[in-house]
Amino acid sequence: MSQGEKVWASSFTRRTALQNLASFLGASPFLLGQQDPFRDHSRVPRLEELLTAFDFEPVAYAKVPRVAYDYTAYGSESEFTLRRNREAFDWVDLIPRAAKAANVDTTCELLGNKLAYPILIAPSAGHTQLHPEGEAATFRAAAKAAQTTMVVSNNASLPMDKIAAAAKGNLWWQLYPRRSLDDSKALLDTAQANGAKAIVVTIDQQSAYYERSLHDRNLSGGRVSTRLSAGADPNPYRVLTNRAWYSWSYFDQIRPMVKVPMLAKGVITAEGAVKCVEQGLDGIVVSNHGGRGMDYLPSTLEVLPEIVDAVKGRIPVLVDSGFRRGSDVLKALGLGAKAVCLGRVPRWGLAAFGAEGVQRTLEILQQELALAMADMGRPTLASIDRSLVRTRFK
Ligand SMILES: Cc1cc2nc3c(=O)[nH]c(=O)nc-3n(C[C@H](O)[C@H](O)[C@H](O)COP(=O)(O)O)c2cc1C
Repeated sequence: MSQGEKVWASSFTRRTALQNLASFLGASPFLLGQQDPFRDHSRVPRLEELLTAFDFEPVAYAKVPRVAYDYTAYGSESEFTLRRNREAFDWVDLIPRAAKAANVDTTCELLGNKLAYPILIAPSAGHTQLHPEGEAATFRAAAKAAQTTMVVSNNASLPMDKIAAAAKGNLWWQLYPRRSLDDSKALLDTAQANGAKAIVVTIDQQSAYYERSLHDRNLSGGRVSTRLSAGADPNPYRVLTNRAWYSWSYFDQIRPMVKVPMLAKGVITAEGAVKCVEQGLDGIVVSNHGGRGMDYLPSTLEVLPEIVDAVKGRIPVLVDSGFRRGSDVLKALGLGAKAVCLGRVPRWGLAAFGAEGVQRTLEILQQELALAMADMGRPTLASIDRSLVRTRFK
């Protein structure tokens, strides 16, 4: 090294430049993107790199606090029903027709709503826990993803008017029954005044506590509520008495308040489905709350055929719990469902990449469904029937 180079190499200017470079890199989003959240030398991928709905879950895990991730992920107790909801798809074969369909038409009509795909967003609580824009971002994304209908939760983190103002699209609204008919009416009025095109009344019971929440409380050092509702009456067995009081007559009481189609969500037996028809409901959602109700309930896919048979086409049967792929949706359509609702999938999209993430998860499932229909030789939804599926439920 020449004398001149030595001076240059050890000069203050060079050190300062290197320091500046290091601090720039240290604060750079490029480095942030290279974090190793799973401690396996992987990094958080970019949106364009994600190919399936499953890919969004680990990104969501990396981006939100553990409590928020667990709230989306958990099922009740041993999480058997949560797992069984997924496993049931392995027990349904798709039987192709000899000729593939070159063009597919995925459009359908559901309770007076025109849908580009038979896929809706299920109601789920508290979206701001996953992203600061919360349900407003979810709704914007839903509208962009072929005007997907979003069912807004009774426990949304934003008021209905804020969500409705976020986009021009299709909103439904979900109600948890209220003891007070005045309260029920006030909620239903607000939802309908803000454009809800259908009301979904959730009649299944959420579990009183979830073990992952208890662990989070112990691990975080902070207070994590294990009660789902502040309004719950205290009792030693954690029975949610604020949700366990109602009977079928509640539907008669609120019917005059509802000017749009009304559905019941959380039906899991043929007997319950028939009761919904007799009650004059306009549709049902076969659901076990994504494995968050009583553990050891059957998967929704397993009970879907007997429910469809019992309903006999009198009202549309929707289904949710465990849907992650377009082929999952196709299997449910083959078993007689009119449409499918997604709970966790858009939540992963929201936590991972905000509105863009939600939009992408929906578009992935829409594309997968169209591809699966083409592959199976079913050009329209009307051409899908039980000959498409063979069940081997255990
Ligand atoms: C985090 C979370 C919150 C939920 N909140 C509600 C709710 O407020 N109202 C409701 O009717 N269902 C709620 N659900 C149930 C969903 O509507 C849906 O039944 C379930 O998520 C479907 O299963 P999947 O997540 O496997 O798609 C929630 C589900 C999750 C995962």
